[in-house]
Amino acid sequence: MSITGIKGMNDILPSEIATWQFLEDTARRIFATYGCQEIRVPVVEKTELFCRSIGETTDIVEKEMYTFNDKSDNSLTLRPEGTAPVMRSFIQHKLFNQDQVSKLYYLGPMFRYERPQKGRYRQFHQIGAEIIGIDDPRMDAQVLAMLSHYFEAVGLTDVSLQINSLGCPKCRPDYRQTLIDFLQQRLDQLCPDCQRRYATNPLRVLDCKSKSCKEATQDAPSVLDHLCDECDTHFATVQQCLNQLGTAYSINNRMVRGLDYYTKTTFEMVTNNLGAQNAVAAGGRYDGLVEELGGPSLPGIGFAMGVERLVLLLQDKKIKTPPPALFLATLGKDAEEFAFKVLHQLQREGIYAEMDFTGRSLKAQLRRADKLNCRYTIMIGDNELSEGSAQLKRMADGDQQAVQLSQLLEQLRPLLDDASTTSL
Ligand code: HAM
Repeated sequence: MSITGIKGMNDILPSEIATWQFLEDTARRIFATYGCQEIRVPVVEKTELFCRSIGETTDIVEKEMYTFNDKSDNSLTLRPEGTAPVMRSFIQHKLFNQDQVSKLYYLGPMFRYERPQKGRYRQFHQIGAEIIGIDDPRMDAQVLAMLSHYFEAVGLTDVSLQINSLGCPKCRPDYRQTLIDFLQQRLDQLCPDCQRRYATNPLRVLDCKSKSCKEATQDAPSVLDHLCDECDTHFATVQQCLNQLGTAYSINNRMVRGLDYYTKTTFEMVTNNLGAQNAVAAGGRYDGLVEELGGPSLPGIGFAMGVERLVLLLQDKKIKTPPPALFLATLGKDAEEFAFKVLHQLQREGIYAEMDFTGRSLKAQLRRADKLNCRYTIMIGDNELSEGSAQLKRMADGDQQAVQLSQLLEQLRPLLDDASTTSL
């Protein structure tokens, strides 16, 4: 029996890669205009990093981490998210000494032992950004505007931005207790999972998908009514700034996040087109995280998008790798030799061209040119070689024009440069 891949960990095949590259390239282009620079961190970190940042009682740390001991008995974990490793690196390399604000972005695989289903995998990819050093609410708005800009740029308009505030260490404990008191009175209506976790992680109950929990928490106290003055003003200013920038959003006071490091603004970009996995991007402010991980007291805000979910949403757009600009079809040894050299020259000029290497008939070569969706085909036989000219055919409409073989490259260049631009 042949060996197959691991459940929930997918290959990304050449037929899908154009969409991935499009998403990645667009992120690089757009994030750069907001001043973000790429950072690459390892996929494995010390387990402690995630326990301390994401939180011991979260689903991720309790149930979903790929944790193992290496040969020296160190407990290591495949990163379940990117924020903690980026903060670890930021602190370790003292990036805070280089500038008062660090704007970083990252792309790469993350690992969570979740039950795989559409849009939820065990190895998945995130494109994320983290801005460290600024606590001004205008930065929250900038980050949200950048996220919205990205979605617009990749053509995903059927998504909506939801925002909330989770308060800070000054006001959250009060809200937490108010919520625990509220839940305690409705314990019998909660699902077994929430009965167990309501006292350790009461906010998660608001996020529970079970019908009975949803009903029981319908009138739950809102976090937004329990913000301290500072958090309240911050949240109001974020909204003002978003209005100024024309970034659309709605407030969802029941949005809680599955990671403990958040303070103040949190947000999700949601869609109705992915079934249960409705968040395509999520993030928020984490003003205490850098200090918690042993760094200076610096605020931060960021987000991560789930690339598989973006790819699913873009499925209908059929983003393709550009086809060959030219197919060189040949008849006879001399023509083949001539074409072989031209092929090489075209490729060195950055023009994607193809020819046959299997001795197929001219008809079969033309069939292949068709199959590859080549923009142009040129037929070169002994006659063409002796006359020094050949017919260049534009495949879209069959239009033909004579080209001089001695100046083939010069004549092809303007046509093919244009033809080899991407088909996105
Ligand atoms: P998160 O909400 O856990 O946040 O994940 C962010 C996004 O990653 C989700 O909205 C979803 O699109 C995608 N995602 C998460 N789990 C899976 C999965 N099992 N399969 C496929 N996609 C998934 C974070 O990870 C935070 N680090 C985000 C952040 C950055 N907050 C501040 N900075």
